[in-house]
Amino acid sequence: MASFALAHTNLALVKYWGKEDEKLRLPSAPSLSLTLNAFYTKTKLSLSKENKFVLDGREEKGEEAQRVFSFLSSLLSLFRLPSSRFFIESQNFVPKSAGFASSASAFCALAAAFSKEMGLCLSKRELSIASRLGSGSAARSVYGGFVLWREGEGSRESFAVPIEEKPSMPLSVLFLSFGEKKKKISSSEGMKLSKSSPFFQIWREECRKACKEAEKAIKDDSFESLGEISERNACQMHALTLSCGFSYLSQLSLRALSLAKELREEGVSCYWSCDAGSNCALLCRKEDLDIVRKRAEKVFASSVTCFSAGPGNGVEAWSES
Ligand code: DP6
Repeated sequence: MASFALAHTNLALVKYWGKEDEKLRLPSAPSLSLTLNAFYTKTKLSLSKENKFVLDGREEKGEEAQRVFSFLSSLLSLFRLPSSRFFIESQNFVPKSAGFASSASAFCALAAAFSKEMGLCLSKRELSIASRLGSGSAARSVYGGFVLWREGEGSRESFAVPIEEKPSMPLSVLFLSFGEKKKKISSSEGMKLSKSSPFFQIWREECRKACKEAEKAIKDDSFESLGEISERNACQMHALTLSCGFSYLSQLSLRALSLAKELREEGVSCYWSCDAGSNCALLCRKEDLDIVRKRAEKVFASSVTCFSAGPGNGVEAWSES
């Protein structure tokens, strides 16, 4: 018997950037995301004599395998299960070589396949808590559409909740890959460094405020308000890293930020976002996706590869004998 799970990645519109507890991955502030349909991880998990992790057809033995098996052993102790070994096969349908993070979909799929295989029948809330222990952003991939991850006081209180699983807002995301292969400072490392910023408390407050405002924008179906909130929050995250002497942004990332502004001045609602790397995302209305893509291809020419996505579903898991 083996268990399978499929989880989509998500784009944070209000970013998770800072932890109160590194081991438990308790965030310093709430975050809000959109689960994406185009990028996902599919994972097969079965009990085995030896631990083995195969990623995209290749056995992994280094750091990635270590992170996977230490995550699974933390789940075994969380659910008071006897020590076990696993054979895991994962396929990432995320353009990882283009520099897009896959930890959200990877750890959410892994937690869901584990829960299925061990017969745990976890609620979505418990699954979100379990996924969070692998990677913070994975807590949000449990649900589709717009998702809020509350900061929570302790581990049992820090989980994601759905806001609107099937968004009525007709929005699209255009990802701009500038070919950066691997980020020099991991998200975990970047978050740790950012906590020393004199602006860290302000950042926390801004995220709390932004989540409330974003929830309202979603409820009111206001794409422009949601876009403005997201762009402001992304700019604040990158200002925070800069205040600690490092940045993920390149000249091209900054050019993408000004492109969003130019498009707005021309009457096309378009907003910028960027995570812990130089690749960016442009949020727009579905009907404007072609206009935005054409402009991005014109401005960045051969420096860019574009990928588009819309709202995606939450995690699914099943067993096969
Ligand atoms: C910038 O979830 O990768 O994408 O919990 O340390 O694994 P760890 O961090 P991770 O961080 C994501 C950071 C971000 C913003 C976000 O997705 O909210």
